[in-house]
Amino acid sequence: MAQVLVVTSGKGGVGKTTTTAALGAALAKTGKTVAVVDFDVGLRNLDLVMGAERRVVFDLVNVIQGDAKLAQALIKDKRIDTLSLLPASQTRDKDALTSEGVAKVMDELREKFDWVVCDSPAGIERGAQLAMYHADKAVIVTNPEVSSVRDSDRIIGMLDSTTEKAKAGEKVEKNLLLTRYDPARAARGEMLSVDDVLEILSIPLIGIIPESQDVLRASNLGSPVTLAAPESGPARAYFDAARRLAGEKVDITVPTERKGLLDWLFKRGAA
Ligand SMILES: Nc1ncnc2c1ncn2[C@@H]1O[C@H](COP(=O)(O)OP(=O)(O)O)[C@@H](O)[C@H]1O
Ligand SMILES: [Mg+2]
Repeated sequence: MAQVLVVTSGKGGVGKTTTTAALGAALAKTGKTVAVVDFDVGLRNLDLVMGAERRVVFDLVNVIQGDAKLAQALIKDKRIDTLSLLPASQTRDKDALTSEGVAKVMDELREKFDWVVCDSPAGIERGAQLAMYHADKAVIVTNPEVSSVRDSDRIIGMLDSTTEKAKAGEKVEKNLLLTRYDPARAARGEMLSVDDVLEILSIPLIGIIPESQDVLRASNLGSPVTLAAPESGPARAYFDAARRLAGEKVDITVPTERKGLLDWLFKRGAA
C-alpha cells in the first residue's frame, strides 16, 4: 500500500515540478516503486523535466474518462525501472478531473506502488485541492521570500481542512522544503533567513535546496537533478529530504556561499 505524497505550494514557479522529479527519482533509487503523477492539467511540465515528453500516449484525464487503462498511461523511466510517470493532459478543460475519477485512479496507484508523488498546480483552487485530497504526507515548497511564505501558510490551512485525512479527523503530515535558497543573497539580507521562514510557518523542515545552475542544466537535459548530477548540492539536499520523508533521521545542511564568491567579495572589499 503506497504512501501518497503531494508536492504543493501557494505560489507558482517555486520549484514543485523540479522537486517532484528529484524526490521521485531519489525515492526510486532506494529500490522502492514510485509513481510521479502530474496534476497540473493544461501545463504538462513533469513529462518534460523527466525527459518523457515524446513517450506520452495517454494521460491522467484519459484514464479518468475511461479512454485508457492506467497501465497504458504509465510511462516507465528508462534510467530507473522502479520509477513511473503518469502524465497530465494538455486539455484546457480544467473540469476534466473529477473527484470520483481521481479517487479511482489513486486507489489503483496505491495498490501498485510504494510511493505516489503528486505534482500539484499552484494556488488554492480545485486542481490543487484534487492533488492534495488523498495525501498522507505533503511537501510544501517555499522560496525564502515574503509572498511565497504567506501563500504557503494558506496551503497549510487547506491541508488541515479540505483533505480526506482532515475530514476523517486525522492530519496530513506536513513538511517544509525551502528551495532556490541563495546563501549570498540571504547573507546580504535580500532573502528571508531560514529562521525567519521557520518562525512564520512552524512546520518541520526537511531540506534546503540551493539555487543552482545544476537544476537548470538537468531540466534542459530532461532529467531529475538527482539523476543528472547526483553529487551536486541540490541533488544531495534532495536525497537527504527523501530519506527524511522515508522516516530516517538526517541532519539538515544549510547551503553556504561558495568559496569563489567569498574570495571575490574579499578582493572587491580590499580593492
Ligand atoms: N534549486 C533551483 N535552482 C535554480 N533553479 C531552479 C531551482 N528549482 C527550480 N528552479 C527553476 O525554477 C523554475 C520553476 O520551477 P518549477 O519546478 O517548474 O516550479 P513550479 O512547478 O512550482 O511552477 C524552473 O525554471 C526551474 O528550473
Ligand atoms: Mg509545476
